[in-house]
This record gives sequence, structure tokens and C-alpha cells, in this order.
Amino acid sequence: MKSAVCVVLLLVFSITHAQKGGQEDPCKTKARVVSDETYCDRYWECVNSQPELYDCPNGLVFAGKNRGVTDGCDYPWRANYCDGKQQANPPIGAEHCDWLYGIFGHETSCTRYWTCWNGTATEQLCIGGLLYNERTHSCDWPENVEGCQKHPLCNDDANGNVPLGKSCNRYWQCQGGYPRLQRCPAMLVFDRRSLRCVVPPTEDCDVPTTPQPLEDEDQQQNLPENIPNLPPGAIPIPHKNRPRN
Ligand SMILES: *[C@@H]1O[C@H](CO)[C@@H](O)[C@H](O)[C@H]1NC(C)=O
Repeated sequence: MKSAVCVVLLLVFSITHAQKGGQEDPCKTKARVVSDETYCDRYWECVNSQPELYDCPNGLVFAGKNRGVTDGCDYPWRANYCDGKQQANPPIGAEHCDWLYGIFGHETSCTRYWTCWNGTATEQLCIGGLLYNERTHSCDWPENVEGCQKHPLCNDDANGNVPLGKSCNRYWQCQGGYPRLQRCPAMLVFDRRSLRCVVPPTEDCDVPTTPQPLEDEDQQQNLPENIPNLPPGAIPIPHKNRPRN
């Protein structure tokens, strides 16, 4: 008799288990929200004590309650949300947007990219010698950006110097088409005619009133995250995940 009960219980459990496919019940969790076990762009929420299935906004995947960029959903490339899962929904394209939500490369420029929110595209610009890296969805140094190795700044002379705005002190030094931010030695100024650091005054620059402190710039030059004014929409890449090539 005892073993018969056991068999019945096991049978009931197997049927429930098979029907639900092992899906966690959101009503049995504290957060009341759980990811779908098959599709990374779907999640279950407990509504009126019943589990209900929801889709993330097109292009986003479930990240967890109060996480991600909207509705608990996030850009798929920001974490391993979709490992071992599929996406249920196909892309809905809009002008400049492969999906309604996401960050996408520019059609004609290496320094620009698009951020898409519900199908509305906003053009963004990478500044400070950076280019849009399609792999990391952020602005990055040219040598990390496949297909866009050279920066337009260095088009005229792949190994020349380029003035930086109105700066008397800083300039771009192109090295094989890659721009590097440089600072003239103390007491010298950048001359935009000869494209060299010279003894002031020049046409645009007077003698500096205070000597510029020499910072540890050699270490900083290669690190986009140390550029103080990263462009809007640029998403910092965690250091440990940053590809090096
Ligand atoms: C997205 O856009 C559509 C139409 O363009 C609109 O009906 C919908 O309310 C928008 N959704 C959000 C979340 O803004």
C-alpha cells in the first residue's frame, strides 16, 4: 500500500514536471519574477497568484527584477543571459535599428553609431580618437576595432601630428593611422602651422603662465576609460572583459 502511494506521487510529479518543463513558478519566489527556462527574451511574472508569460521589449533579454535597461530586460551582449537558451522573438527592424532596442553600428562612419529605443534611432559620436567597436558596443581604441583600423583624424598623414581643438598644449600624434593623445613638454606649445611643439609665443598661443604638470600619460594613452569625457551612450567595458588584440 505504501509503495503504491509512492508510485502515484511519483507519477503526479512526473506529469506536472513534464507539463511545466521544469519551469520555475514565479509565485513561489520572493521576487515574483523568474526567467523563462527556454527563451532568454521571456520571463514569468506572478500576477494575481498566477504565473503569466511576458516578452522583453524587442532586442532585449531578461536580466532579473529591477535590472537591465527597462522592465528587467537588458542588452543581450551585456552578460551571458542567453547561454543555453534561445530567443523566441525575431528582430523587428526600424530605420538604423536591427532591433527596436539596441546599439548598432553606423552605415557610413566608424566614429558614429546608433542607439535605438523602441525603434527610434539617435545618432551618437565617439570622441577623443575612439571608434565604435561593434563587438563591444562601445567606443574603443582604433586598434581594437576590426574593419575600422585607421581613424579619420589621421587620413591626411598616417604619421603626422594633428591639432586638438584650440589646445596650445595637447595634440594628436598619428602612428600608422592610430591617433595618440600627446602633450607638449613643459614650457612648449603646439604650433598648428609647423605641427610641432615649439617655444612660445606662436600666432595662437602665448607663453604658458604655469608649467603644465607632467602626468603619467604614457600609461593612460591606451585606456579609453581614462578619457574623462567619454561620449554619451558609450558603455564602459569592464576591465577584465576587455579584449586585447
Ligand atoms: C513604442 O512605439 C510604439 C509605436 O511606435 C508605441 O505604440 C508604443 O507605446 C511604444 N512603446 C513604449 C514602451 O514606449
